[in-house]
Amino acid sequence: MSKVTVVDHPLVQHKLTLMRDKNCGTKDFRQLLEEIAMLMAYEVTRELPLEEIEIETPITKCKSKIIAGKKLGIVPILRAGLGMVDGVLALVPTAKVGHIGLYRDPETHLPVEYYCKLPMDVAERDLIVVDPMLATGGSSIAAIDFIKRRGYKTITLMCLVGCPEGIEAVQKAHPDVDIYIAAIDEKLNENKYIVPGLGDAGDRLYGTK
Ligand code: PRP
Ligand code: URA
Repeated sequence: MSKVTVVDHPLVQHKLTLMRDKNCGTKDFRQLLEEIAMLMAYEVTRELPLEEIEIETPITKCKSKIIAGKKLGIVPILRAGLGMVDGVLALVPTAKVGHIGLYRDPETHLPVEYYCKLPMDVAERDLIVVDPMLATGGSSIAAIDFIKRRGYKTITLMCLVGCPEGIEAVQKAHPDVDIYIAAIDEKLNENKYIVPGLGDAGDRLYGTK
């Protein structure tokens, strides 16, 4: 079964509380989401393998560590996942960015795909899928399905707010995908929104509705 890591760093928790507040406006919401994504990326990348190389400092030659292994790709689930990309890129500026467009059908709550463009170098990249909300899990599961069909193997899911139902669904569908999340909320309501959650992440990020 995959690993679920709750990123409980005080800065992440503080900023998430500010975002949850219904009086948090679009500008602050956008900035806080980017900041949290950067802080979470620090945790997600904690176990990247290192290798030693020889370098020359102004004083002497020495061995020093650099990140080894495969390069990273970031895949936001549109729209709201876009708000997390720049935060991750701030720490991993060489990452490539793919996009998956999905929306939840308002009646069925099932994900509908409308766009998918991923980096081409499948064998060279480990992917981090980003989306602030993990509600039923349908969108994340569908996104990871698409990505796996293109041949990518090492995938990590990074979300802001989830609930037990969504996490269980992703773990069942993709037991090889580790999940990083800032908060696991109580439940879903009758409209499949997370309670207490933060409302509709896409609308709050872009000021729509
Ligand atoms: C939101 C959110 C997730 C999805 C989560 O997107 O950003 O992608 O819902 O719900 P799920 O786990 O039940 O699938 P939404 O469909 O509202 O699209 P948007 O980002 O374009 O607003
Ligand atoms: N999508 C959101 O943006 N918020 C939720 O609570 C559930 C799905």
